[in-house]
Amino acid sequence: MVNIKPQPGIMKIDLYEGGASELKGQNDVLKLSSNENPFGPSPKAVDAYSISGKALHRYPSTSHDELRRAISRILDLQPENIICGVGSDEIISLLCQTFSGQGDEVIYTEHGFAMYKISALAAGATPVVVKEKNRTTDIKNILNKCNENTKLIFIANPNNPTGTMITLKQVEELAMKIPKQALLVLDGAYAEYVDNYDGGSQIVKNKSNVIMTRTFSKIYGLGGMRVGWGFGPKPVIEALQRVRGPFNLSVPALAVAEAAITDQDYIKRCKEENNATRDWFIASLRKLGLACDNSFTNFVLLRFKNKSQAELCDQYLQSKGVIVRRVDGYNLPEALRITVGDRNTCERLVGVIEEFLVRQE
Ligand SMILES: Cc1ncc(COP(=O)(O)O)c(C=O)c1O
Repeated sequence: MVNIKPQPGIMKIDLYEGGASELKGQNDVLKLSSNENPFGPSPKAVDAYSISGKALHRYPSTSHDELRRAISRILDLQPENIICGVGSDEIISLLCQTFSGQGDEVIYTEHGFAMYKISALAAGATPVVVKEKNRTTDIKNILNKCNENTKLIFIANPNNPTGTMITLKQVEELAMKIPKQALLVLDGAYAEYVDNYDGGSQIVKNKSNVIMTRTFSKIYGLGGMRVGWGFGPKPVIEALQRVRGPFNLSVPALAVAEAAITDQDYIKRCKEENNATRDWFIASLRKLGLACDNSFTNFVLLRFKNKSQAELCDQYLQSKGVIVRRVDGYNLPEALRITVGDRNTCERLVGVIEEFLVRQE
């Protein structure tokens, strides 16, 4: 008789649900469900991908030296404080594996990114959910949930799927007040979309209990390549490096990410285009009488009166070939998360949503 059982906590994990990319029977589909950059990656990153094909028989660098140096040069950070991973998902998972286990608590907010809970459970730790205030992180609520078992506190700033954020002053206050055994993780997956914002890297430089995670999947347009990184205190990075697989990033992934971060002119153009279109999109939705918060990201959280209206709108959008993201799993059943496309896409979308509302009357 076999008695094979996964570690405690594993079977409590709900499988991660990615943004859908297909609609049955439709060929011309508009995918706005995964917060991807509609313009794709920098052409320089695409060139680097082709060139890297010639070295596929070689193992990749284990140290990621060149990529870490490129990130440091562009963002004025120290390479020895950087760890690179298979998306920031891997950094989140390494953090949970390295700093939490049975009996430990991992805090994240009510509408926080799904991987915090998944990674905490996978590490055997206990996930602890904290209420937000008006769909925004509330540091008082976080501090109220902290205790001697708290090991990790995740906040995405700006947050997915709400698009909202708190100030660096609030982040600093949180870092100052958390228990001494707890590490604050600032997830900056959307940091590049925010004006005059360093994702919290200055706070990381000044504190020994804060780490920032970043990704190449959003503004860098490289979701398919799977590269992310973390910037944190040296003892934290050194612990994470011991758990990371030695060849976690492939030859193409390293080459492409390095080329992408070096092309900051491209990133600047993507940001300007996104932010102008996003603000126009939000204003247009509000003119239709719909509710949405200001967004600091490349997506908009559109709220309806109730879950059934959100469902009906989602169905109508699908019938027109548009895929957006239902966010019931994020405790927002009355909302839809919509990635900001290019201007033409957003104009088309406003038209379709207006048609839906007229049909509802
Ligand atoms: C807030 C947040 N953090 C982290 C990630 C993970 O991104 P990746 O693993 O592609 O770097 C995402 C992806 O959607 C996200 O929204």
